[in-house]
Amino acid sequence: MKKEQFICPYVVYDGVEELDAQDAELMRVAHEAAKTAYAPYSKFNVGAAVRLANGVIMRGSNIENAAYPSGLCAERTVLFAAMSQYPGVAVEALAVTAFSRSKTIAEPVAPCGACRQVMVEVEQVSKRPLRVICQGEVGPVMVFDGVESLMPFIFLDKFLS
Ligand code: THU
Repeated sequence: MKKEQFICPYVVYDGVEELDAQDAELMRVAHEAAKTAYAPYSKFNVGAAVRLANGVIMRGSNIENAAYPSGLCAERTVLFAAMSQYPGVAVEALAVTAFSRSKTIAEPVAPCGACRQVMVEVEQVSKRPLRVICQGEVGPVMVFDGVESLMPFIFLDKFLS
């Protein structure tokens, strides 16, 4: 028997002012995207933006539905759009933010498990680390240099063959 532990390295910045220009721009687009959310049920607007290896920046937001499970998170909205519009183009970075109509979110919003599962596969297909940049409506920014540390014991395609 041996005890093991999972390490999840990340960097915390006090605010967007501390980010480099590329990350700050991607987060700015994510904030814009949050305004486009269709979230009449949760009233929780999430915005996501990706930067692709060809320089294209795309954005997405959460889109809800009266049949609740039919909605989709902002992260998967933009990642699926990127993969379908630019197949074969690596996704370099993903920025995520959110605002709520009931309170100010002043801590970084971390992607849900289902989105992390998708992010890992996007990272594998991209063959490079997928940088993840998370912020609330205001406040500190968390940056992960890759996705695998965000999703311990991920379900991988190797199990399927
Ligand atoms: N949501 C996202 O868009 N991304 C996440 O990572 C977590 C949750 C959305 C789904 C739903 O529309 C709302 O936030 C409340 O859960």
